[in-house]
Amino acid sequence: MTPSEVQLSRRRALQLAAATGTGLAAAAATTGSASATPPGRRSPVFGHGVASGDPLPRSVVLWTRVTPTPAATPGSGQGPAADVEWEVAADPGFRRIVRRGSVRTGPARDHTVKVDADGLSPATGYWYRFRCAGALSAVGRTRTAPAADATVPRLRMAVVSCANLQAGWFTAYRHLAARSDLDLVVHLGDYLYEYAPGEYQARDVVVRPHDPATEIVSLSDYRRRHAQYKTDPDLQALHAVAPWVVTWDDHESANDAWSGGAENHTEGAEGAWRARRAAAQQAYAEWMPVRYEAGGQLYRRLRFGRLASLSMLDLRSHRDQQASSPVDPALDDPSRTIAGPEQLQFLLDGLADQQVQWKLVGNPVMIAPVRFPSGLESRAAEGVAALVDLPVPPVAGVPYNVDQWDGYPAERAAVLGHLRDRGIRDAVFLTGDIHSGWANELPADPSTYPLTGDSVGVELVCTSVTSDNLDDILGTPPRTASAAVETAVKVNNPHVKYLDFDSHGFSVLELTEAGAQMDWFVLTDRTDPRAAAVWSTSWRVPAGSSRVERAAGRLR
Ligand SMILES: [Fe+2]
Repeated sequence: MTPSEVQLSRRRALQLAAATGTGLAAAAATTGSASATPPGRRSPVFGHGVASGDPLPRSVVLWTRVTPTPAATPGSGQGPAADVEWEVAADPGFRRIVRRGSVRTGPARDHTVKVDADGLSPATGYWYRFRCAGALSAVGRTRTAPAADATVPRLRMAVVSCANLQAGWFTAYRHLAARSDLDLVVHLGDYLYEYAPGEYQARDVVVRPHDPATEIVSLSDYRRRHAQYKTDPDLQALHAVAPWVVTWDDHESANDAWSGGAENHTEGAEGAWRARRAAAQQAYAEWMPVRYEAGGQLYRRLRFGRLASLSMLDLRSHRDQQASSPVDPALDDPSRTIAGPEQLQFLLDGLADQQVQWKLVGNPVMIAPVRFPSGLESRAAEGVAALVDLPVPPVAGVPYNVDQWDGYPAERAAVLGHLRDRGIRDAVFLTGDIHSGWANELPADPSTYPLTGDSVGVELVCTSVTSDNLDDILGTPPRTASAAVETAVKVNNPHVKYLDFDSHGFSVLELTEAGAQMDWFVLTDRTDPRAAAVWSTSWRVPAGSSRVERAAGRLR
């Protein structure tokens, strides 16, 4: 989503930031998420929390960051090398230690620590902690994946995306951390945002200003921004209770990134894109609990017994540049790619795997086609805001967001045609990016319009943790102008079964052999650190159906 849709003078925004920005000390004092945080002694050495990720049947990635001396601030390149001990135990009191080791870190990797702890048992809960410079970290809880051939009765995961620190509090993370039923957390991207204070916030208010107080461009900048996010107590709490499986979208580098640049990158004035992207990737590899090192390949597949696989996609590193508009003839080029040929084949292979029932795809941008009615082409650059004036019910039209799979129709046709031609069932795309909640069926042939024919899969889209959405862009109260737009989108796109353009929050997905169900929860106020999370709706995918239907109630 392009923040230029939200217009606010930089000076005004900076004034508001100065007036309202309270900083992290206040954040820690007012959110007070101690009840959700596992036991463990806090220390300035471990000021960025602990995390785990990418669970396999016998191993899991463990992460922390140490500040062994005051000089070793994130992004500084200063401070001494430090030895960090780690322990994995079968009990929260660490009486039964099952693995331990020691690693050395230092300024070359910004004093981050990432350990692939192996020799573990499948489908087992563990506790882990670190020691450095005489200090003990908080205790984290994690869980290995089931064995590949295991029968798994149930898998439950949080699904989140788009957490702009300047746009609000991470209460969504705190509410998730307070649950005890999560096997993992799937983060679909926009874990952080690259903007300076005043460039993108909650409508016209910077709730908490970014650090550094500039758009991030250099390696030092990206490291500092990661560090700032990881001082948030709610984010720390959710990292500490379950393993995360993450991918990036655009804002981990710059808005609307593609393989050779980004909308929010000025070649030359902001250095070379190649260097900026390398800096963003290095900081991501250092600061995230992911089995990825800079220069490597982020897309990967995890497996949860015979119940599910999860193919996490990287739709930024290999894609062609976005089309200039929804009527750009480039859209018709059959060679356009969003995944790149190798990743596309990786995706098709995963979808065709008959050893596993649910084929989940961690899909950073929406794959369901969403069309403008014809006649609004001239306003296409306004994005979905142009739909406010929509006559109902026109049909035929052009895609409304060419940063999504809608901008790469040939490659999408290959994916959906593969599902149809192979008779693949139980393919579920989990999607973020668009700051709104959707439940979509996936038409077998998205090249025809209006769309007809069978559904070959489903797409469940979580809304943003905090980032602006339609009522924010329009500057209208929630559930007013945007409700009319939702109706218009659904009338013109009948495969869209559920749509909420206004809420912020999180989703929880459960898989069983009988079906998949996603619950959507919405925050009462993203700018209130004490906001409640309220159940909004639930949609269910009966096994074998490739259809979504409203569920009778939320998961219990
Ligand atoms: Fe986003």
